[in-house]
Amino acid sequence: MKKFALQTAAGLGLLFFSCHTAIAEEIGVPAQGGHPEYLFLEKVPQEQGRATAEMISQALAIGRLVIFSHMKKLTDPELGDKGFTGDYFVEQWLAALEPQLMDVTPVQQRILDKLIWAGKLSIDNNQDRLNVKGTGWKHFLPAKWAREAGLMFNSRTGIVTRQPARNYRHPSNAPDSMDKAVLTRFIQPDHDGKPYGEETMMGKQPVYRYFEPVELMEPCLACHGKPEGELDVLGYKKDGLEAGDVIGMISVAVPIEGPSGK
Ligand code: HEC
Repeated sequence: MKKFALQTAAGLGLLFFSCHTAIAEEIGVPAQGGHPEYLFLEKVPQEQGRATAEMISQALAIGRLVIFSHMKKLTDPELGDKGFTGDYFVEQWLAALEPQLMDVTPVQQRILDKLIWAGKLSIDNNQDRLNVKGTGWKHFLPAKWAREAGLMFNSRTGIVTRQPARNYRHPSNAPDSMDKAVLTRFIQPDHDGKPYGEETMMGKQPVYRYFEPVELMEPCLACHGKPEGELDVLGYKKDGLEAGDVIGMISVAVPIEGPSGK
């Protein structure tokens, strides 16, 4: 009996091993189905989906601009302490945001508070990096702030924000199939530059997905401009784009509940 059990165990082990080698042929590919976010903590009524997504997208775009306008100081190698603290940043950010925040509903206010918390935390977390003396480029720029703030915002809300791009530099900005379809339309020369949004599903959760094009400005071209393929200061190949071209977008998915989003 004992011998039989041992043989069976050995046989099963062999079976397991051979199955495993068979499925282990391709590794590192995305799992099929589902969605990385399963617990959407914040949901808005269906009719507030678009306005909420738009509010988040604009808040990120404005936060990006606040950082952009401080880049000269932040990349100054002579300067140690830059005074660019979370508190300072939030003050600037809120001043620029206020005109956009007219009719904010209570649930939107709660979501906005969490976004401001996340945006501030990203700046606080980067203090050691920002205050390094003797180095110009410290790997801190608007896209990195929006990425980190978005991840922390996601962890407190479930709301998904990303910045998919034509040639993305950070892996977490890889476009999904819907991002790709919308971005393809955004980069057409005859596109009107307007954002796009629609209700769809993320896993089992109805969401409002909103996409806002991000256009390049003159100073962006040092890395995203011409000549295409030439290495930028960080060693990435330049994108070969011009000022005014759409390089990517802010992509926001807000969970909705209501008639179609129960
Ligand atoms: C010094 C080189 C540099 C400059 C200048 C620069 N970028 Fe980038 N860009 C990067 C890097 C590096 C990342 C990845 C940052 C990260 O997520 O850590 C990035 C990321 C992005 C992304 C997100 C997609 C991705 O590649 O991950 C967008 C959109 C973007 N940049 C737009 C802009 C715009 C608009 C400007 C001008 C306002 C600009 N960039 C200026 C280097 C640069």
